Amino acid sequence: MNEQLINKDNLPKHIAIIMDGNGRWAKQKGKLRVFGHENGTKSVRKVVEACARIGVANLTLYAFSTENWKRPKLEVDTLMKLLVASLRKELSTLQENRIRLNAIGTLDALPAKAKKELLEVIEKTSKNDRMTLTLALSYGSREELKSAVREIADKVKNNIISKDDIDEELINNHLYTHDLPDVDLLIRTSGEHRISNFLLWQIAYAELYFTRTLWPDFTEEHLFEAILNYQNRERRFGKTSEQLN
Ligand code: IPE
Ligand code: IPE
Ligand code: MG
Repeated sequence: MNEQLINKDNLPKHIAIIMDGNGRWAKQKGKLRVFGHENGTKSVRKVVEACARIGVANLTLYAFSTENWKRPKLEVDTLMKLLVASLRKELSTLQENRIRLNAIGTLDALPAKAKKELLEVIEKTSKNDRMTLTLALSYGSREELKSAVREIADKVKNNIISKDDIDEELINNHLYTHDLPDVDLLIRTSGEHRISNFLLWQIAYAELYFTRTLWPDFTEEHLFEAILNYQNRERRFGKTSEQLN
C-alpha cells in the first residue's frame, strides 16, 4: 500500500541496512538464536526483491561484522552455513531480477567453502545491471580504512602517487565500496541507535532511519515506510534551506 506513494524520481540511490535483532526475535519465541538467523534470511529475500522492483540501484546489507567473529562458535558456524545455503538457493532469483552480487569485507577470513560459493555467485551475476546487492561479510569500517591507508602509503612509497595526490576521491577509490555511490539512506532495525563499525566514511551525509522492528519481522511495507520517511526529509548538505529552493 505504501509502495504506490513512493516517488520514483526521488529514490535513494544507495540503501544500506544494519539487519539487527535476529537473536532477540528468537529469544522472544523461546527458541535458539540461530532460529532467528534462519528467519532473517526470509526478510533479506523480501527486501532485495522489493528494492529491485521499485528501482533502487544499490542495496548493501550488513550480514556479519569483523566483531561478530567473537560470538559463540555454534552461532558463527550456523551463520556461515546459512550464507552458503542462501547463496545456492537465491542464485536463480538474482538472475531473474538481474541483480549483481557484490561483497565487501575481509573475505579471506570466511571459511573456504563460503568464500568459494560467494565468488561463484559474484562471477555468475557480474553482468546483471538492474541492481547491485552488496553483502558486508566479515566487514568492519575501521579495517577497511586501515587497508586503504596501507595501500595508499605503499603507492606513495613506491612513487606511484605523490602525497599531494591524496584527496577524498583517491581515498574513496581505495575503499571496498569504490564502485558504489555514497549511502543515501541507512536503516537499522531492532531499536539500537548505533552504527557498529558500518560504512563510517560512506554514511557521511546519509539519512539515518531507526526502527524498533526486529529484522525477521521486517517486510516490504517497513522498507517502503523508511523510503517514504526519507523522501519527506530535506537534505541540505551544509547549505541553507533557502539556497535549495
Ligand atoms: C543480527 O542479529 C544478525 C547478525 C549480527 C549476524 P543479532 O544476532 O545481532 O540479534 P540480536 O541483536 O542479538 O537480537
Ligand atoms: C551489527 O549488529 C552487525 C550486523 C548486523 C551484521 P551487532 O548486533 O553485531 O551489533 P552490536 O554488537 O549490537 O553493536
Ligand atoms: Mg545485534
